[in-house]
Amino acid sequence: MAHSENHLENSLYASIMETIDLGIVILDVKTRELIFKNKFAVEIFQQTQNLLDYRNLLSLLLTDYGSKPEKEIFGKNYTLRFKNRLLGYTPYMIADNFIWIIIRDITERSRLESIAEAVNSMDNISFVFSGIRHELGNPINSIKMTLSVLKRNLSEYSPETVEKYVDRAMTEISRVEFLLRALKSFSIFEKPEIQDVQIDDFLTRFIALVRNDLHQSGIEISKIVGLNVTNISADPRLLHQVLLNLITNASDALEDQKNKKITIRVIKQEDLVAMIVEDNGCGMSKEAQANLFKPFYTTKTRGTGLGLMITLKMVTLMKGNMEINSIKDKGTSVTILIPEGTRNA
Ligand SMILES: Nc1ncnc2c1ncn2[C@@H]1O[C@H](COP(=O)(O)OP(=O)(O)O)[C@@H](O)[C@H]1O
Ligand SMILES: [Mg+2]
Repeated sequence: MAHSENHLENSLYASIMETIDLGIVILDVKTRELIFKNKFAVEIFQQTQNLLDYRNLLSLLLTDYGSKPEKEIFGKNYTLRFKNRLLGYTPYMIADNFIWIIIRDITERSRLESIAEAVNSMDNISFVFSGIRHELGNPINSIKMTLSVLKRNLSEYSPETVEKYVDRAMTEISRVEFLLRALKSFSIFEKPEIQDVQIDDFLTRFIALVRNDLHQSGIEISKIVGLNVTNISADPRLLHQVLLNLITNASDALEDQKNKKITIRVIKQEDLVAMIVEDNGCGMSKEAQANLFKPFYTTKTRGTGLGLMITLKMVTLMKGNMEINSIKDKGTSVTILIPEGTRNA
């Protein structure tokens, strides 16, 4: 009786281990063998044959084993980027003999978390408005000063001096206009209309619109669309604005460079589509990269510092997210990840 209950329990545990959507592996540290791997663990590591053995798992998941005290290693959560996936895992030591490791695929979760984070920080609208007040306040103050000096001295100033003051005021006014134009794209935030967008056609049309301007600045633009990508799920107006913002930044970054190129690459990544805008422009330092999405962060004399923040917001509205990689003096690549559309639609 006891025996068969035990048996039943064991086979129950075994089938739980097999069906659970957590990877489980157990390593025997005495014999240096992998003594258990469940189905999910095999799936996670399947692309790489021969990876699932004792030595490989230790060097992949437990790099500090043997060099750090065990209590600093076990029972802690780790993450690992592995073949396009983001894995979270926790190793445990049992009975001084066995290491068992639970592995979770957190790719999707971390994507949704970063979307939520972006939405939260963008929704801090008062922060944005205080920035806008500041940005508009400066030029308006300076216009006021210029005009009052001019008014006080109108009878004494020569026509040339008057013109100088008027010009100064005009310059500030165009700064205000520029800011207002930049803010205009806020209005399309209200209600995204998500639909299937045939990405290759979309890019052909988009590039036709910007090509002339870019050519005038000596920039070559091209696209490469993966054959397995057809539709993405997006609001075409937002997508247009997003690409325009990224292309504008790329073209600014290319200003003093040779052999200026912008490439838009589209590749499938699981059930997402990655659109990568690459330039071989000036690139950015690590410090600059840390500030990119902050409103009003700009390194340009005529910049607003709103472009990337608005871009991120728009990408987020389309349930996507965004990543920037840049190397100083080499170039920048901006990846936006957008959900795939319905196939063959
Ligand atoms: N492709 C790029 N290459 C180099 N630097 C970039 C690129 N894109 C953005 N940046 C940096 O990020 C800053 C913020 O960009 P953005 O938010 O679009 O504002 P703006 O273009 O008005 O400065 C830029 O001033 C620039 O320093
Ligand atoms: Mg910009």
